Amino acid sequence: DDTASKLDEQTKAQDLSANTASPGARLTDNMGHAVSDDQNSLRAGVRGPTLMEDFLFREKLHHFDHERIPERVVHARGAGAHGYFQLDKSLSAYTTAKVLTEVGVQTPVFARFSTVAGSRGSADTARDVRGFAVRFYTQEGNWDLVGNNIPVFFIQDAIKFPDLIHSVKPEPHNEIPQAASAHDTFYDFISLTPESMHMLMWVHSDRAIPRSFAMMEGFGVHTFRLVNAQGHAHLVKFHWKPLLGVHSLVWDEAQKIAGKDPDFHRRTMWESIEAGQPFEWELGVQVFTEAQAEGWDFDVLDATKIVPEDLVPVQRVGRMVLNRNPDNYFAETEQVAFMTTNIVPGIDFSDDPLLQGRNFSYLDTQLSRLGSPNWPELPINRPVNRVANNQRDGHMRQTVNRGRVSYEPNTLGGNKPAEVPQARGGYVSYPERVSGPKVRARAESFGDHYGQARLFWNSMTPVEKEHITRSLQFELSKVETRDIRLRMLGHLERINEVLAAQVARALGERPRVGGTARPGGTADSAAETAVLAAAT
Ligand code: HEM
Repeated sequence: DDTASKLDEQTKAQDLSANTASPGARLTDNMGHAVSDDQNSLRAGVRGPTLMEDFLFREKLHHFDHERIPERVVHARGAGAHGYFQLDKSLSAYTTAKVLTEVGVQTPVFARFSTVAGSRGSADTARDVRGFAVRFYTQEGNWDLVGNNIPVFFIQDAIKFPDLIHSVKPEPHNEIPQAASAHDTFYDFISLTPESMHMLMWVHSDRAIPRSFAMMEGFGVHTFRLVNAQGHAHLVKFHWKPLLGVHSLVWDEAQKIAGKDPDFHRRTMWESIEAGQPFEWELGVQVFTEAQAEGWDFDVLDATKIVPEDLVPVQRVGRMVLNRNPDNYFAETEQVAFMTTNIVPGIDFSDDPLLQGRNFSYLDTQLSRLGSPNWPELPINRPVNRVANNQRDGHMRQTVNRGRVSYEPNTLGGNKPAEVPQARGGYVSYPERVSGPKVRARAESFGDHYGQARLFWNSMTPVEKEHITRSLQFELSKVETRDIRLRMLGHLERINEVLAAQVARALGERPRVGGTARPGGTADSAAETAVLAAAT
């Protein structure tokens, strides 16, 4: 019942503060017993053994012994902040989602930025993709836009994700991160995975060494669906545009900062927000129809492709302001559990096979990481609207469900779904028509792996091209296995011959010119022709 949804009116900040413990209070143990001496254990004689009955000692050590939880299997290194999202332009023509239709309303958000490959204690400025995860605590439940600062991804199908991550993480025999040591496993996998070439170009560009979290774009990456009040669907890509613009470090700076100040990004965000200077982005959308998408030479369900902005411009519809640091890193930034399946009525998935797989993985991983199916009760994870269902019990259950009914249907006073779900705001999936043979195969429309990699290269300024070239020279020089280096050069040739020739030369290989590069992939200026001539 709506009258029961009193929590709607609370902000997330008030909700969280209900769980805070104040500093400066009288010391007690967890059971509320006042502690007289926290520094000496209870002994039989001042030089004698510690007594088993010392419940204060045992409780303190017991809790300490269990303080660590597993770090995230990816994106372990991160920093978060609270704030709000405010809509400026209604998208009611496309969606019923209140967060995207109620102009002027401020929706509380929590955002977490991360690197992908490094462990929790790794350096902020490593060359890597940055996670850009935003949770909107909407009146209709949590909406998580779990994105990255690069608009495409390495792989087209989620079944390859464990392979990708195993290839980039420290090698299992010695656990040495690949930053300074051999890079063979990553480029072994990548060179056998041509669909990763577009993303690889972004990863070798300046986008992978942002100057600040506040100076990077964010992307939902996948195509999602918006559904309006008439039940009509449009496809959508989500973008975050930083108010400060996009700025990067240069590689030399990034490496020096990694040594001198490994917390550079998280500290900059913390200090800026403490000083009253929020981090801000505009939310942009590219909205298009299935019919439009059918006319394009790439598949919008393929996460290795962008929808170029000259095909569909980005409309800016609202603003995110991050203006409050967490009270407690562990309780908030570490325990926040984003999930791509957190969506609200009016927003739906597409059939992107990467997104479909993510929809399983995020829920699944939380049990390993947070340890109990009751993790949604944690303050940072619970929505601002009321939760009411027939789930019960489990490790660390906090909610005290009243009454005798924990089943549905029921007539004895339990929870029930709304009778007309759509009219009452219940989540209804878009009734997309699907059919086809059950196959393990990929559509032919996912087949071009080089076109957008080339588009990206061609869109770069000369300085940016030089940075990409140098980055590839540096990283591939750390690949010890020659076959892998040669396979990588083969891919680069198909993207741009100048690039491939320059990287080949740095690796001591003979560049192959006039090979496989297609139109637009060859030297496109007199200067580049000269470079090519010099390289060969
Ligand atoms: C974190 C799986 C692709 C963005 C994670 C986590 C898992 C995961 C298991 C750890 C979550 C946790 O412990 O809380 C996958 C799988 C993918 C995939 C299976 C592909 C099949 C992507 C893509 C993006 C992305 C394409 C960007 C659009 C993120 C972000 C986080 C994350 C931002 C960190 C969330 C946070 O800050 O807590 N992913 N991921 N992932 N993933 Fe993915």
